[in-house]
Amino acid sequence: RPGKSLVVAIDGPSGSGKSSVSKEVARRLKLAYLDTGAMYRALTWLCLDSGTDLDDGAAVEAAAENLVLEISTSPLEDYVRVGGTDVTLAIREPAISAAVSAVATTLGARTELIRRQRELIKKHHHRMVVEGRDITTVVAPHAEVRMLLTASAEARLRRRGIQLGGSQNAEQLAAQVTLRDAKDSTVVNFTRAADGVVTLDSSELDFAQTVDAALGIVHGIVNHQ
Ligand code: DC
Repeated sequence: RPGKSLVVAIDGPSGSGKSSVSKEVARRLKLAYLDTGAMYRALTWLCLDSGTDLDDGAAVEAAAENLVLEISTSPLEDYVRVGGTDVTLAIREPAISAAVSAVATTLGARTELIRRQRELIKKHHHRMVVEGRDITTVVAPHAEVRMLLTASAEARLRRRGIQLGGSQNAEQLAAQVTLRDAKDSTVVNFTRAADGVVTLDSSELDFAQTVDAALGIVHGIVNHQ
């Protein structure tokens, strides 16, 4: 259906396989792709790089407004640049993961990033898979397809190679994952599907099965329009 609007909004917690599934769905449907979490991570990188106090909401908001961001909107390539610096790998570092919640809970910064996300969707003529935490509810509540990709805490830890009941280190990692979910859900509740949002629980599915299920949801909705 070339030319027709098709925004596929996918929310979910970290470790649900959201990014890899979203990217593959975009490839298969020949849609653009946007990882909004990478935008929060890029802003966090800028704040840490510029010595911005993460507890200073006005300063974080100003950083968001000044953020010179280039981000891939293709599922076939992955790059993120801040002020011309390639931060594709740097934004995945533990230091960023640890600090990103503080940035993502700054409402003024969210407003600015949400504005840019909507602009990117528009630029791609509303043919895009957009993944994050507040896409189905805030960024694109009118998306043709809205999905919540979930997985049990056990499944998400398992995918990260963490075995519960194992070493103390494993327990610590598990606690970190739980803590980050708790922090993230103080801004946006992505743990329960909003009205009209289809839940896809991937706990018992492998990658290919999850992609097929997601594509099934898209086709089911699009064919009934
Ligand atoms: O999906 P991720 O782990 O890359 O997300 C990084 C952080 O950004 C995480 O703390 C949640 C936050 N985030 C958000 O608040 N809203 C979004 N739309 C996407 C991510």
